[in-house]
Amino acid sequence: MTKETGKWLEDAGPRTRAIRSGIRRTPEGEHAEPIFTSSSFLFDSPEDAAAKFAGEVDGNVYSRYTNPTVRAFEERLAALEQGDAAVATASGMSAILALCLTHLKAGDHVLCSRDVFGATVGLFQNTLQKFGVGVSFVPLTDPDQWRGAAESNTRMLFIETPSNPLNAVADIAALAQISQDIGAILAVDNCFCSPALQTPLLLGADIVTHSATKYLDGQGRVLGGALVGPEELITPVVAFNRSCGPTMSAFNAWVMLKGLETLDLRMRAHSDNAQRLAEWLAEHSLVEAVHYCGLPDHPGHALAVRQQQGFGGVLAFEVAGGREAAWQFINGTELMSLTANLGDAKTTIVHPASTTHGRLTAEQRGAAGISEGLVRIAVGLEDLADLQSDCLRGFAALSR
Ligand SMILES: Cc1ncc(COP(=O)(O)O)c(C=O)c1O
Repeated sequence: MTKETGKWLEDAGPRTRAIRSGIRRTPEGEHAEPIFTSSSFLFDSPEDAAAKFAGEVDGNVYSRYTNPTVRAFEERLAALEQGDAAVATASGMSAILALCLTHLKAGDHVLCSRDVFGATVGLFQNTLQKFGVGVSFVPLTDPDQWRGAAESNTRMLFIETPSNPLNAVADIAALAQISQDIGAILAVDNCFCSPALQTPLLLGADIVTHSATKYLDGQGRVLGGALVGPEELITPVVAFNRSCGPTMSAFNAWVMLKGLETLDLRMRAHSDNAQRLAEWLAEHSLVEAVHYCGLPDHPGHALAVRQQQGFGGVLAFEVAGGREAAWQFINGTELMSLTANLGDAKTTIVHPASTTHGRLTAEQRGAAGISEGLVRIAVGLEDLADLQSDCLRGFAALSR
């Protein structure tokens, strides 16, 4: 098996890296990347087995440790995020779990932004607290509050930007400075932008986490996650995966690997559709507010212009009438898929307060700005006119 490398690849632009990085070719001469669905790999001799087990020579042992297809995905993603190394995991949540269990210990403290994904709140607040890791939740957009909330044992700052579903935007460079000053690491969940629209490591973040389930796959087919960063932060996670097991399957890695080839084109198309739908919704008389960082009046717009290369595909809007109205709107739509996933070519719609953020207390939801009338649309790649017609069906279903 040979790996495709060359100086041209190191110097290549992001679209080329998304298509050409990480490729391994077998003697069969296949053009598309192969899927290595094998639990284990053969050794040449007991000596070879001992050396590979001990990590003295490179080579595959068992797919919980390494798998060539997973490796190809990791290399391609690292090339796009412009990090030294990446490690793939079974899901986005297992990436965050692996990060925390590798780099935190009992007695440590984490600062986490208040409006992260609901399961991330649960992980920090319920699971990690049981193991003696403390957490404080801080408003995403105010660096001064992060500095003020830091404790002598704060070891990690964790953010998601833009946030789900309100598109709040964090100043990555400012938070990176704070985390450096206090000797912590800054982890950025780059799910909403993907490396096509934002490269947090270049803004000073230490590590990027991904729910690859979303835009990296791009068609809602499989679950996956990943961490990207410097070798010294990633290598210990690889060791964690080896002993604890939340690895990505070869098939899922192959789906992600092929998904990355069209990431840049898709992200631009998602952003374009979302921008135009957000502008259109903002004009509608039954819409109280639209939350999309591509709109000039969004509080994070100027920062998003500075640190992102696009605004992404997710928007949220509020209809007057609370939960009842939000549910009526969703029930009135026909094209958009009522499902919790995002980052799919198919547009999805969801009521955050009763689903993705349903496990938060009403108080936590209030603090995170998740109102009962809020509807999230993860805008897909369909024709804009058809999405607008579907929204009109939703508005027509509102009892007035
Ligand atoms: C921003 C964000 N991070 C992490 C996750 C968790 O990813 P997964 O569902 O792949 O475990 C999600 C899932 O929706 C998400 O939206």
